Amino acid sequence: MQQDIAKVLIHQTTILSRLDEIAAQVALDYADKELTVVMVLNGSLMMVADLLRRIPLPLKLDCISVSSYHGGIKTSGHVTFDQLSMPDINGRDVLIVDDILDSGLTLAAIIDKLGTEMQPRSIRTCVLLRKKRERLAPVDADYVGFDIGDEFVVGYGLDFEERYRNLPFIGVLRPEVAGL
Ligand code: IMP
Ligand code: MG
Repeated sequence: MQQDIAKVLIHQTTILSRLDEIAAQVALDYADKELTVVMVLNGSLMMVADLLRRIPLPLKLDCISVSSYHGGIKTSGHVTFDQLSMPDINGRDVLIVDDILDSGLTLAAIIDKLGTEMQPRSIRTCVLLRKKRERLAPVDADYVGFDIGDEFVVGYGLDFEERYRNLPFIGVLRPEVAGL
């Protein structure tokens, strides 16, 4: 697995110290609120596990499952919701956590669906990575781990064709592995 990685972009220690900072900010911002974290499966798994353990507040955790990729490294542009029911977020202050903000279509679709089908008190978003590129939907994240260039990355939850999620760091795949 490691031999498919061209370079390590963000080391695990760097990720964890950034999560310390984000958790401290979230703890301040939600100190007197009813926080519900909605994690977007599967990519945000590692981040949520490490982030939530750093937030000393009472909170609820829910998850949703969406797909916008059908293999490969390009989004299909169409976001489908895979789970049968939406988390109950009525009256709650919701923090959506996703792995990466790329085209923005996924996050925009989630915000739209949760905001129109339920009555959350507020919705904010948190992403580990934000890619520097043009967004196809007018959306940004409220909490951002790292801004990165427009390259395909894997590890720490992020996959290429469902692999590499268990790498402990964020890395760039060798072009020949990604089929480029
Ligand atoms: P968006 O809808 O284009 O913003 O894409 C968001 C989703 O695409 C993320 O939740 C990821 O699952 C996936 N994605 C986008 N860029 C990357 C990448 O560089 N590596 C792995 N997955 C990615
Ligand atoms: Mg993915």
